[in-house]
Amino acid sequence: MNYWDYIKVEELLSLQGGVGDRPAESFSNDEVLFITVHQIYELWFKLVLRELEKTRSQLRQNPVPDEDLAEVTRSLRRCVTIFEVATNHFRVMETMTTRDYLAFRDHLIGASGFQSAQMREMEIMLGLHDDKRLPAMGDESYKEALKGDAGEGSPALARVERRQGEGGSLRDALYAWLARTPVDGSSDEGHVERYLQSFLEAHEAGAKALLETARERVARPEDVAVLEKRYRRDVEAATAFVTAEDKPEEDRPFFRHVRAALVFIESHRELPRLSWPREVIDAVIALEQAMVIWRQRHARMVERMIGRRVGTGGSGGVDYLDQTALRYRIFDDLWAVRTILLRQSVVPDLEHTDDYRLRIQD
Ligand code: HEM
Repeated sequence: MNYWDYIKVEELLSLQGGVGDRPAESFSNDEVLFITVHQIYELWFKLVLRELEKTRSQLRQNPVPDEDLAEVTRSLRRCVTIFEVATNHFRVMETMTTRDYLAFRDHLIGASGFQSAQMREMEIMLGLHDDKRLPAMGDESYKEALKGDAGEGSPALARVERRQGEGGSLRDALYAWLARTPVDGSSDEGHVERYLQSFLEAHEAGAKALLETARERVARPEDVAVLEKRYRRDVEAATAFVTAEDKPEEDRPFFRHVRAALVFIESHRELPRLSWPREVIDAVIALEQAMVIWRQRHARMVERMIGRRVGTGGSGGVDYLDQTALRYRIFDDLWAVRTILLRQSVVPDLEHTDDYRLRIQD
């Protein structure tokens, strides 16, 4: 074996130019850079998809073997690192000026990163639902953009449809795993409800203590009234979250358990037997954060490159991209739980702490 055959160097180097009547020799260095950076991204996306596929199938097991949680964490962390490193590629893109880009931009009209099937595959695999997507070009579905000129299918569309046909996202698998996770040693509904009740009582007590302090330290009664309202709202929001009031009636038991598991794992992070579950959740959060940062960073690069004009794919450009960073969030409960967590000193004691130690205590 040798390097050039194994890495397919010649094939790889022949892939950066020459479409239709525009031969590779006519391309500026800027255009070759533009193509190369996109290709590098597609290769990273391919690796991320492989890791997500593996992670999803590991988390789909019932039960998930303990040993697999380490693998799940490692795969997710690899995806995070890829996104972090890949986000930096936009810096290389920014060595091109607006004027350099405009020199070849008109040749691209109709082609856009919006048509990156692998990006859509990642979103679908993670659990982004179609009803959450923004209409980029009028009301046209994002899948329309993956069709050929005459409305025919394309390799990109085939990829996306194949991925949709698989059904069951990483989010589904993760949430199902959380919904089975024992809370303080038991999955019994009554036990989980009691756990949540004591958590909410601690919340209420914390709010009362803060209010007492405010009464002592804040001079104006109207300011105390404002604080009282704010603390009350916090307690109400915590109650609404753990009782899953925002979900349809039939889904509430499922989400109540998912959220109880999140409160439990996050509130008792130090317990050794919660280490892997906590690592998995941290890695999922890190992945979503890295992807949001990728979206925001892409939008800033785009703004620097083309200002606020419409994109070659026909969307509103930067405005559209900024909205995707706000809206295309998948693991919302993992983020939302952070709003209601308590400091360690006021977290209620568990009934079964010993079950979560590595050694049985004498
Ligand atoms: C000069 C460089 C770039 C410019 C000016 C640019 C511009 C844009 C614009 C305006 C959009 C919105 C859709 C449209 O109307 O076209 C878009 C979407 C997109 N671009 Fe770029 N882009 C650049 C580089 C890249 C690179 C290097 C990647 C890496 C793969 C990329 C990936 C994407 C993706 C995945 C979308 C779809 C985002 C979504 O719908 O959520 N872009 N780009």
